[in-house]
Amino acid sequence: MRIEIPREVERFGHVMFHDVQKVYELDAGLKHKRNESKDSDRRVIRRISYESLQHVQEQMAVVVPIKDEKIKLIEGVLSGIPHHCLVIIVSNSKREGIDRYKIEKEALEHIGRFTKKDMFVVHQKDPKLAKACKDAGYDHILGDDGLVRNGKAEGMILSTILANLCGKKYIGFIDSDNYFPGAVHEYVQEYSAGFRHAKSDFSMVRIAWHSKPKIVESHLFFAKRGRASEHTNKMLNNLLSSYTGYGTEIIKTGNAGEHAMSMKLALNIDYSSGYSIEPFHYINVLERFGGIVESPMPEAATKKGIEFFQIESRNPHLHEVKGEEHVKSMSREAMECIYRSPICPEELKQEILEDLRNRGVLKKTEKMSETIRYYPALTKVDMRKFRKVIENEPYAEYLQLDLKGYKHLNGVNGLMREKVVTTDHLPKGDNFLEVK
Ligand code: GDP
Ligand code: CO
Repeated sequence: MRIEIPREVERFGHVMFHDVQKVYELDAGLKHKRNESKDSDRRVIRRISYESLQHVQEQMAVVVPIKDEKIKLIEGVLSGIPHHCLVIIVSNSKREGIDRYKIEKEALEHIGRFTKKDMFVVHQKDPKLAKACKDAGYDHILGDDGLVRNGKAEGMILSTILANLCGKKYIGFIDSDNYFPGAVHEYVQEYSAGFRHAKSDFSMVRIAWHSKPKIVESHLFFAKRGRASEHTNKMLNNLLSSYTGYGTEIIKTGNAGEHAMSMKLALNIDYSSGYSIEPFHYINVLERFGGIVESPMPEAATKKGIEFFQIESRNPHLHEVKGEEHVKSMSREAMECIYRSPICPEELKQEILEDLRNRGVLKKTEKMSETIRYYPALTKVDMRKFRKVIENEPYAEYLQLDLKGYKHLNGVNGLMREKVVTTDHLPKGDNFLEVK
């Protein structure tokens, strides 16, 4: 891959937001004799060899969340994921009546056999996984029925624990409703390129789509951004501006479903439910590491900082159309997690309400209701106890045998939502999970 280095960077406490990077060549060949990283330091466009991407992918789990998608669509998505990644499919498809999950599992395992891919499938409502969460001290994602709650976010959180237990250093997410296997392939290559660039091992890569094709008056039109994204990005940027005093447009991937994280970062941030999970990454990283409010943070993260990369993909992004209501509720949830943050200033709250009312997402006098849930960081999970419950499951062959490298430390809760809390009384430095 040949990719430009980020032009701009906005710093915020320990956090670095890199500007969008453009891809010049999807495939830039194999490693040359010349040292790739040495001479790339002086260039504005970097060449990342196939081997370097593969090296990252060997340490990466790619998670595909599924809920009642067409099998043909999922098959295409799987064919696009580079071979060396471990694929974790977490499904919340329906089991009553026609057991869609059973059909999915059979089809996917069939593909697994043909491609010899490392891959396994779990169901979000598997009672074993619920028990594992409970035993491990992380019942936060369990509902009243004792099973993992519905939602893409909850599936993602569950799969992050699994990926960690598989010993992976990186975790990437790919939606299962993508029509272009080529786009899927490209996203994973870009995740890998981002991590190759990263100086910190607390890093995140988010995809900024080049375009989203739509039919407008019977012509194909390539829109630059999704409908919800525009508004989410604007409010996130306004949040940054409200602290720096300078207008900015650095954030272009507020709603990026396509994103990847280093495991260290994934374990040390809080999560929120539903479709607010992606914008909440920005919010929570600012809360935890932005230096605005005091917050516990791992020492390692403060040394090299937290890096966000945004990479502009070349393939158009085409996924299942889920209608106006879906976009509205997604946008509302994204706005809610900005609104409810202790770092959101009053003026921005008013701006958010106005924006939602103007778009008819909220009624004229309607207030912001509280619909999203917050989940504490996965430092709360006792990984050993979690592993114990699932060690006889069919996918146990992918789990790391030896958990000696894991220290279970009682993680502290993240910030409380409704008021700014100081965390002076909490022990600093060692209250985070280290992955060796
Ligand atoms: P959008 O693309 O962000 O508009 O949202 P989608 O509805 O397409 O959802 C994104 C991905 O999450 C798709 O692959 C869905 O199949 C999947 N998904 C949605 N809800 C759930 C859920 O409750 N559990 C799991 N595991 N996946 C889900
Ligand atoms: Co979708």
